[in-house]
Amino acid sequence: MRKCTSPKGEVRVSGDKSITHRGFIISAIARGRSVLHGYSRCQDCAATLKTLQKLGISIEESESTVSIQGRGLGGLAESDDVLDCGNSGTTMRLLAGLLSGQDFLSVLTGDDSLRKRPMGRIIQPLSQMGADIRARGGGRFAPLSIEGGKLKPIDYTLPVASAQVKSAILLAGLYAGGETIVEEPYPTRDHTERMLALFGAKIEKAGMRTVLRGEDSNLEAKELVVPGDLSSAAYFIVLGSLAHDSEILLKDVGVNPTRTGILDVLKLMGVDVSVLNLRTVSNEPVADLMIKSGRLMGREISGELIPRLIDEIPVLAVAATQAEGITVVKDAVELRVKETDRIRAMVGELRKMGAQIEEREDGFTVEGPTRLYGASCSSFGDHRIAIALAVAGLIAEGVTTIDGAECIDISFPEFIATARKVCGEDSLTTQD
Ligand code: S3P
Repeated sequence: MRKCTSPKGEVRVSGDKSITHRGFIISAIARGRSVLHGYSRCQDCAATLKTLQKLGISIEESESTVSIQGRGLGGLAESDDVLDCGNSGTTMRLLAGLLSGQDFLSVLTGDDSLRKRPMGRIIQPLSQMGADIRARGGGRFAPLSIEGGKLKPIDYTLPVASAQVKSAILLAGLYAGGETIVEEPYPTRDHTERMLALFGAKIEKAGMRTVLRGEDSNLEAKELVVPGDLSSAAYFIVLGSLAHDSEILLKDVGVNPTRTGILDVLKLMGVDVSVLNLRTVSNEPVADLMIKSGRLMGREISGELIPRLIDEIPVLAVAATQAEGITVVKDAVELRVKETDRIRAMVGELRKMGAQIEEREDGFTVEGPTRLYGASCSSFGDHRIAIALAVAGLIAEGVTTIDGAECIDISFPEFIATARKVCGEDSLTTQD
């Protein structure tokens, strides 16, 4: 890709990936036919859909809707094959929770990256609830085998702020009599809670504690509208703020406060983002976002902000290279156990482009502004690294090449078409 001057236009990013996963799973165990509009067509969500089909759920897909024939809480059937979660941590961890409540055997596996990611964090609470889970590497890594059944409720404090772990416990809690309670150290995305409530579960939030009453939770099918994914919008928010003379309107983006850390930080850094037409759709806040070029100032990003922007940190590193002064990201050690070690990947690749960025154990420090120059970079097979580097390439002088960029389809298959729409057809080219 080459430099994008004056990105302009009105864009609708694809459906939110986190909400789509939950929409598929919760619809499958609700009673009746649910329809999801504007769902994400990314590879991660396709992995969830495929595993649900293997568990006996009938699904019809069209260009913009999916209809799922839910079979109720006890309606899943044993799969006659291993369930392949691909690259998707959300698929594996949420399904592990769901399958802990089923009285049959399931085996979950994934690709090379997913089989290296920590699974002890879900195995521990789900085993406490009564599931029999075995895993490779002394109970730490997939493949996982899960023999589920009737569960006991737990009162569990998450050792790491993780929405996937919280969601796994809540989905298992649907199969436990009594109150399942999850307490989090910092607020994480609450899409599972919002969607369970929408479908009729008895779930309440009290500060950092979420309480689910399993035996009272009967789920009824719903018609859902999935908002645009703020994590995908973030690439265009950063591009719009860094490129000169830009004006990008992002339509129908999810602005759930547990996800809007990126907007808060960019505003603190001086970016001009307007939140317009705020409304609630399918129990999620949605808005249009208008972004214009701005002058950025370095900031410290740490603590409770981190879970609210965890997936946007790679592209935030790109923004930091153009900010005046020092930007420090700390308390983000979780980035090391994502699809790749995202701290190491961004530091190494942005340095090749001329950034002054230093690795910390729990994040990085960037000194800016520095001019970026096109370079030959690697995605490390990680979709968020590939797209963040593409944004860096779009503001850099010269040509940037990203190796393994096909992984973009894992979360945002429409990225290249969308970038061409705002930057021009010849801004990005692909090679097989
Ligand atoms: C997600 C939660 C986060 C996030 C991931 C999606 C979810 O992971 O990084 O991309 O949909 O629940 P953790 O729960 O591991 O923090």
